[in-house]
Amino acid sequence: MTASILDGKRVAAEIRAEVAADVARLAGEGITPDLDVVLVGEDPASHVYVNAKANAARSVGIRETTHRYPRDLDQGALLATIDRLNADSSVDAILVQLPLPKHIDTARVLESIDPAKDADGFHPVNVGRLVQGKPAPVPCTPAGILELLVREGVEIAGKRAVVVGRSDIVGKPMATLLLKADATVTIAHSKTRDLPGVCREADILIVALGRAGFVTGEYVKPGAVVVDVGINRVSRREDVERFFPGDAVRLAEWEKKGSTLVGDCDPSSVPEQASRLTPVPGGVGPLTIARLLFNTVQLARARR
Ligand code: GUN
Repeated sequence: MTASILDGKRVAAEIRAEVAADVARLAGEGITPDLDVVLVGEDPASHVYVNAKANAARSVGIRETTHRYPRDLDQGALLATIDRLNADSSVDAILVQLPLPKHIDTARVLESIDPAKDADGFHPVNVGRLVQGKPAPVPCTPAGILELLVREGVEIAGKRAVVVGRSDIVGKPMATLLLKADATVTIAHSKTRDLPGVCREADILIVALGRAGFVTGEYVKPGAVVVDVGINRVSRREDVERFFPGDAVRLAEWEKKGSTLVGDCDPSSVPEQASRLTPVPGGVGPLTIARLLFNTVQLARARR
């Protein structure tokens, strides 16, 4: 079996077009949705993600401001910025890019965001609302993945779903959404016994553990649908050759840039087992951004 693609790019473009139409309708009512992104520090990946979010927001007509601060910003100053954005009636949605520098208490910062302006849905009030099935902004990556599965015609109700990874950003909300869609859900993690065996029970396998090529074909039931959330940069030639044997295009990319991107799934063995698989890049990443735009417009509508 060679897996066919679960096309995150195509579904993300669909969502973006719908959001753009919604923004145009709001413009008719004199409303321009506003997203404010807060970025602390110089993490190169975070800068890439934040730029992509800003460009995507602008491309659909959302007003976007990125507030950039050096990595030594003190926590009080960050909380003061969030207070100011909370109080500013022209701001609809606030996103604090993670990870924050180590000296900052991430939970405290996320709790300081007004739940009605919580673009990521990370505030405990919104997490609780999501778990209870009440309306709430849904964390962008899992929301995008669920949208992908639904729009690509993957049956969820009654299926066995295994989520590998228990983060607040992906694993936990992903499991909640799959449960709400009537899957039978297992959350697996680094302490799970017989991880390959647990993963092989999955009809739908969501992999979000942040280790390049960790999940191999041995973890995948033949015919399973696999979503690879990982985006890992590998720079050693031996890794590129191991993950992409005989792939001249990847090797050329590595030679040019000094690195290439690999998901959490091993691209040399998982496609042989899965029926459908998200590519890396071009799978989950664009969906996260599309859902951020969706959340922003929803918050704008609800607030005004
Ligand atoms: N860092 C990695 N993913 C995310 C996300 O979805 N939201 C925020 N705020 N930071 C992230």
